[in-house]
Amino acid sequence: MNTSAGIHDLSIATTEYVLEHTRLAAHIGVDPRKFTHGIGQDAMSIPAEDEDIVTMAATAARPILERHGTDGIRTVLLATETGVDESKAAALYLHRLIGLPDNARVIELKQACYSATAALQFAAALTAGDPEHRTLVIAADIARYDTGSAAEATQGAAAAAMLVTADPAILRIEPVSGLYSAHVMDFWRPTYRRTAVVDGKYSVTAYLDAIEHAWNDYHKRAHRELPDFAAFCYHQPFTKMAYKAHRHLLERNGQTPAPEQIEHAIGATTRYNRLVGNSYTASLYLALTALFDHADDLTGKPIALVSYGSGCVAEFLSATVVPGYRRHLRTRANREALSRRTPITYEHYARLARTALPEDGSEYHTPHQTSGPYRFAGITGHIRCYEPRRANLRSAMDADTSAAAQGARP
Ligand code: CAA
Repeated sequence: MNTSAGIHDLSIATTEYVLEHTRLAAHIGVDPRKFTHGIGQDAMSIPAEDEDIVTMAATAARPILERHGTDGIRTVLLATETGVDESKAAALYLHRLIGLPDNARVIELKQACYSATAALQFAAALTAGDPEHRTLVIAADIARYDTGSAAEATQGAAAAAMLVTADPAILRIEPVSGLYSAHVMDFWRPTYRRTAVVDGKYSVTAYLDAIEHAWNDYHKRAHRELPDFAAFCYHQPFTKMAYKAHRHLLERNGQTPAPEQIEHAIGATTRYNRLVGNSYTASLYLALTALFDHADDLTGKPIALVSYGSGCVAEFLSATVVPGYRRHLRTRANREALSRRTPITYEHYARLARTALPEDGSEYHTPHQTSGPYRFAGITGHIRCYEPRRANLRSAMDADTSAAAQGARP
């Protein structure tokens, strides 16, 4: 990998609706502090019926294309575990929706919450071979668990889009990382299920064990110590997990950390995830975005990215913050993406959770709910149809159907 490859631009998006944990706590009759203090969550993003990973990915990526254009984007990698098709890459739905170039490879990646980190590494490697090569990496997921389960409080949804280039303006990814993989059944989603299967307590220990191995691998190869890092961005299925993870790494390395030390290393990274909930593979990159948007100046400092995907794969990456990075951030837009959400009642959330799409290919038009720039318009002839919001539903669906019939690119 080219040592100077990294993140040139970074943008996040989330959903139309938000469920506050106080409402969930009131419904199930538990002390709300179990959520606000116990797992470190205040709220979780809930998609409208006409939102999915494609609309969130498009919303996150659009500002990047508006700022940098599409020149040089030869690869588009969409990382998700909330796929919309078993064969076609979800990234191809974006292709027309946001005007991506024809001369690009467009792929979907999956490995639970880890896959966006793999995408970032693949993108950096492509740049090493050709410094003109730009990759649009998008992480997008919707975390869904059964209503009434212990995991219900750890749902959420978001997307993070990154432009990966040589000579990046924000974050330079360092070439050495630490890796760990193992076959564990802590969390998974069989193809016949809409919600994940999870062994909650086991998943927490599997996460801690995996990141410890990834750190040990990194430490052997990079000869850096934990105190060298100015901040640690962890995958955050719930924000308390990042606190557990950081304490675990420090203790396993002979330290007895004070709470303030842990807060200093990770507090800023939890600011968005605390309000969004788990966004699976996007979660680590929401943590990174929150760090940039809330921390004091990080210029030139090394930061750690600690990625975990159940099943499991973990990676410990180090990166250096590029001088002048603050000029390239999107802090106002990122905060707006969260503050524009409409709070909903528990009943409204439960209704959305029960809503299921037809599975027999019958025509289905989704109700107009999102106020975001793109919407999932429905299904016709087994084809998922997307459109810019307020565009004519009929014509979007007709265009998709006739393009498929002709085998032509619309
Ligand atoms: N006030 C303050 N704290 C309280 C409290 C109160 N009134 N009541 C409970 N708590 C605390 C508990 O002491 C506990 O804290 P510790 O973990 O520090 O001991 C915390 O709140 C949670 O309480 P429980 O352990 O009783 O919670 P639970 O069993 O109901 O569920 C969970 C917790 C297992 C994490 C569950 O939410 C779950 O299964 N989530 C999904 C799985 C998950 O997110 N796993 C994370 C690792 S796997 C991964 O990272 C991949 C991924 O994205 C899924």
